[in-house]
Amino acid sequence: MDAITKLVEKGYNRIAEDYYSLRNLSKFNNELEEFVSLLPENAHILDVGCGAGIPTAKFLIEKGIKVTGIDLSDTMLNLAGKNVPSAEFIKMDMNELNFNEKTFDGIVSVYALFHVPKENHFEIFKKFFEVLKPGGILMINNGVSESEGTSRFFGVPMFWSNFGPKTTLNLVKEAGFSIISEAVLERGGEYQYWIFGKKLES
Ligand SMILES: C[S@@+](CC[C@H](N)C(=O)[O-])C[C@H]1O[C@@H](n2cnc3c(N)ncnc32)[C@H](O)[C@@H]1O
Repeated sequence: MDAITKLVEKGYNRIAEDYYSLRNLSKFNNELEEFVSLLPENAHILDVGCGAGIPTAKFLIEKGIKVTGIDLSDTMLNLAGKNVPSAEFIKMDMNELNFNEKTFDGIVSVYALFHVPKENHFEIFKKFFEVLKPGGILMINNGVSESEGTSRFFGVPMFWSNFGPKTTLNLVKEAGFSIISEAVLERGGEYQYWIFGKKLES
């Protein structure tokens, strides 16, 4: 694991409880509802950077969807296991996704991609495409302006990196996705760039 990923892992292990207790749990319910509406019956989804399992994994499990969540942080994964016992949680770095091709009906990754160096985002999008089944749905968000650096977050050093919306959109398209919708949205007082994509049947 490289130094940046270690910094993010260590940071979330220290702040997981604080982050989780201050999480606004319903700020993106509309997007989760939209994601669910696009999935097939008996869907199995992957939540990348799942954190404490709330709101995303819990919301999806309550809709009858099978959820696998991955995260770097053991502390987050422990919380997730307690919060959503019927989901599966695995320690895994999204830079090294290790699932078979065509495993999932949907992938959601929210408030997480911006902790990974932006030069890795394209490889991650390509891997998302590979592990989705044909017809699979992608829902991601990312920051709204190109930037990279380290700043204090809940009192610990944290790494942030993202391209602006135009580049992120192009990379998602180049990875093979057809775009369902994309927009900068304000949720809970924060702006993020949201993309819904689809791996077309083939
Ligand atoms: C801001 S939290 C968001 C958690 C959750 N998605 C939510 O909406 O509450 C970011 C999460 O991404 C995880 N994360 C950061 N980099 C990661 C990586 N390379 N692979 C897997 N998880 C990562 C962190 O450990 C943390 O739990």
